[in-house]
Amino acid sequence: MTTLTDLAVAVLTAADAREKTALSRRNAALWFAARAQGTPLPLGAALPPDRPARPARPELLAPRDMPRRRPGTLAGRVALLHAVAHIELNAVDLHWDIVARFAHIPMPPGFHDDWVKAADEESKHFTLLADCLETMGSHYGALPAHAGMWRAAEDTAGDLMARLAVVPMVLEARGLDVTPQMIDIFRGTGEAQAMAALETIYAEEVGHVAYGSKWFHFLCGRHDLDPKEVFHALVRRHFHATLKPPFNEEKRAEAGLPPDFYWPLADAAPPAAD
Ligand SMILES: [Fe+2]
Ligand SMILES: [Fe+2]
Repeated sequence: MTTLTDLAVAVLTAADAREKTALSRRNAALWFAARAQGTPLPLGAALPPDRPARPARPELLAPRDMPRRRPGTLAGRVALLHAVAHIELNAVDLHWDIVARFAHIPMPPGFHDDWVKAADEESKHFTLLADCLETMGSHYGALPAHAGMWRAAEDTAGDLMARLAVVPMVLEARGLDVTPQMIDIFRGTGEAQAMAALETIYAEEVGHVAYGSKWFHFLCGRHDLDPKEVFHALVRRHFHATLKPPFNEEKRAEAGLPPDFYWPLADAAPPAAD
């Protein structure tokens, strides 16, 4: 019988980006159909690969070797969307990896629902951006992309709480900070398809950060730990940079991330409050 970890590993081992994201959406639908029928798929114990399969293109470069992007030009906006598409493809793998890598840790079924839903949404996000790139005369794989994307997964492969702290609560929260300016760029040029894609991403990413915060707090409760202190300790140990303000405090709050979680990890002091 097919298990949830089988479905996850199938996505992680699919190399072609369009095939990976289409399979991800089909596998998410299988999981939710079985849940709706009251016959949830067993979790199983299929092991995820250390690194997910990826297409031969894009060429992966160290961040310092990446060409600079100038959003004032069409080529610059294509490069921006290409970079976000690469992040979304990585996020598909990150969410299925959480499902498979930590399946041995007993969690309520809602944990798996949340990450399968997040993986499904990331697959949609990649597809929306890949479609935009094609409308603009390019495609995913046409430009080089950031090589270090899987590092956070490797650094937190042995610790679910560290994975939740670093991936949804730091990296995906960062997306909430920077996406509004990207939407403004495409609003300014009247590129409606890209604007709509980024607005969908912005709306749905709040949920992914919220899932991270919810299950992080759940595990803190299970182990009788102080969430804020553990969050700071895990991010300092597993994330190799400081957090960069300005923060989107409104969306972070909506996602269950209070200021005293992220400001102490920032490379600047918070603005004085009245
Ligand atoms: Fe996304
Ligand atoms: Fe996400």
